[in-house]
Amino acid sequence: MEPLNGDDRPHLPPPSLWPVGFAVGVACVLVGLIVDPLVVVPIGVAILLVFGFLWARDATKGYRAPVPDLEPETRRPGREAPPIPAHVGEAAMPEPEPGEIERFPRSKFLEFSTLGLGGVIGGIVTIPILGPMVANPFRHEKHGKLDLGPLSDFPSGQWMIATFMTDPAEGEVTRRTAYIRNNGESNGEPSFTIISNRCAHLGCPVQPNGPVFDNKKKVERTKGAGDVTLIPMLPAGGFGCPCHGGQYNPEGNRTAGPPVRALDRYDYSIVGGHLVLGKTYSVSKVDGTGAQAKIHRYGLANPGNHVDGPEAWLYPLQPPH
Ligand code: FES
Repeated sequence: MEPLNGDDRPHLPPPSLWPVGFAVGVACVLVGLIVDPLVVVPIGVAILLVFGFLWARDATKGYRAPVPDLEPETRRPGREAPPIPAHVGEAAMPEPEPGEIERFPRSKFLEFSTLGLGGVIGGIVTIPILGPMVANPFRHEKHGKLDLGPLSDFPSGQWMIATFMTDPAEGEVTRRTAYIRNNGESNGEPSFTIISNRCAHLGCPVQPNGPVFDNKKKVERTKGAGDVTLIPMLPAGGFGCPCHGGQYNPEGNRTAGPPVRALDRYDYSIVGGHLVLGKTYSVSKVDGTGAQAKIHRYGLANPGNHVDGPEAWLYPLQPPH
């Protein structure tokens, strides 16, 4: 076989770094959608546009370069004349007359229509799957003021199961549960322990390990939280999860089973003599009890995620809540 040299070498595109930059931009946008849509996504889009432009410019360089004029004398002696390239010689199609619509070769039409069709089919297949996956973490639960009723509904030292709606306009689907204990006063301010019922393993609803006094149930209608039900209870044995046996003490500390941290808690405030719930946050552990408890708090994390120690490094990203 004759060695390849000179013009006989295959014309491969030179290696380029632009696709790598483009890929970094795409990755940056995807990560930004989860981490910080307002800052990281625009940076990713900028990278994507810059490298996309450079890549496209590189890829189309051949179309924009002037066509070399191959004269017969440039052919090497002693060799058969190479086949005439398609772009040399008389045009297969007549040049458009001035004013006539520009014509494109059929190969171009097929190339673009195949790419376009592939894009449309890809979008039809992937958007219904990827769209909700990407969008769901960004759906914030709408919280009005979660007014759970007057302080008099929460006797000192008494645990209550409180259920309430985070968005009464949306109905029962927004109903949530919290376990609330009035700890009495601390530094002249009312103190409450408010524990979420979302298990820190996989999110099942935990139950109190102790009697629940349904016959003393009270319903308080509030503007911000709909019908608030309050049921006294005595979680002497703490809380237990029916799904995989996770166990917590009355402060929400994990005592057994697969959960990786303590139960989440709610912030709260006292507004006009009413107990108003704030945001939920995650807790690694609680030292002490009641008003004197030292709560090791963190930003709200997904169930199953460590929030402290080296294991927390495995969960660097949390969807915004
Ligand atoms: S979800 Fe609670 S122990 Fe698994």
